Amino acid sequence: MTPEELRNLLHDQPVRRLHDLAQGRITHHFRMGKYRLIKALLSLPVEDRAAVAANLGSLAHRISLGSGSSQKPRLAGAYSDRTIPSPTPAPEVKPISEPATSVAALFEGIGVPPAEPFNPDDWQIEAIASLTTLDVIVSVPTGSGKTYVAIEATRQAIEADRTVIYTSPLKALSNTKLTEFSQIFGSDRVGILTGDRRDNPYAPVLIMTTEILRNLLYDAASGEIDIRLDTLGLVILDESQYLADPERGVVWEETIIFCPSQARLLLLSASIGNPEELATWISRIRPTPCHLIHHRNRSVPLRAGYLHPTGKLTPLFKTRDIPKGRPYALHPETKRLFAQYEEETLGPRYRH
Ligand SMILES: Nc1ncnc2c1ncn2[C@@H]1O[C@H](COP(=O)(O)OP(=O)(O)OP(=O)(O)O)[C@@H](O)[C@H]1O
Ligand SMILES: [Mg+2]
Repeated sequence: MTPEELRNLLHDQPVRRLHDLAQGRITHHFRMGKYRLIKALLSLPVEDRAAVAANLGSLAHRISLGSGSSQKPRLAGAYSDRTIPSPTPAPEVKPISEPATSVAALFEGIGVPPAEPFNPDDWQIEAIASLTTLDVIVSVPTGSGKTYVAIEATRQAIEADRTVIYTSPLKALSNTKLTEFSQIFGSDRVGILTGDRRDNPYAPVLIMTTEILRNLLYDAASGEIDIRLDTLGLVILDESQYLADPERGVVWEETIIFCPSQARLLLLSASIGNPEELATWISRIRPTPCHLIHHRNRSVPLRAGYLHPTGKLTPLFKTRDIPKGRPYALHPETKRLFAQYEEETLGPRYRH
């Protein structure tokens, strides 16, 4: 199989199979997205690459042999216009998810990934480009890189001589963002306004809690002139799932409603359940349409552990990844610990 054929074949695989192929061959492969994983697999030494190709070859062969239906299986179909690799003896295909037998297995691959040149993802580029004319909701899983969108959108606004307000629901997060944005844009260009801090309050980039912005907007609505709102080009609402918070949600709602019409709105969240509905609502109440960027691909896979009250941590499931759908198997050690805990806590009460 030529490298080009192998590349095409790898592209056709679900990312979980790529992780499976990378197991034992590429360190920290769990930290990689599909693109980097394929690049790393293609850079393996020639004999490893051959084993990867053979693994895929035998898998495709088994699928096409095993399929009794006239419908072409997806993987076999992927070969139809390319050279079919020989299905000769190949190393055994590993199961998609190996049982996590210990905490070490649960944590395998977690760490700092090797440094690589930064390439923004397509959705990041799309979000930044859309903000020149539209409001944008970015609803993507945690750890996907929403901060990059916030930073580049801020850069764009500064270059256009507009000011930026970045809000977060927590003072601690606001402090972190102050440090991060100051390092990028220079501390003279970044200020903070929270209940506890007031530094550089007329800087072109202002970090604040959402409540503080809402209060500024209230003041403006009652006629108070605030230069920071007149020149406002971008409002970033990080962790905007707070909109659904029973107590504080109204603050986000009012902030969106009162946000000056000339400013673009950027909502960032990993956990909005109904982003389409939210985009429709924002498009209805604001003069600018709202564009939704939404995907569910996790660049940082989730793993689940069970923390026993004694402090012992065990994998929650038999599989390392969180199983999709039911039935799923709990890790035997977790089951045992949980049964023991129930016996020790609930048991005596029920026995009396
Ligand atoms: N295109 C990319 N390729 C590789 N790494 C990226 C990319 N974009 C961002 N990152 C890195 O991903 C990590 C997580 O990014 P970030 O903190 O922005 O996530 P987030 O989407 O804001 O997550 P959260 O929902 O937890 O706030 C950072 O270390 C960032 O440098
Ligand atoms: Mg974030």
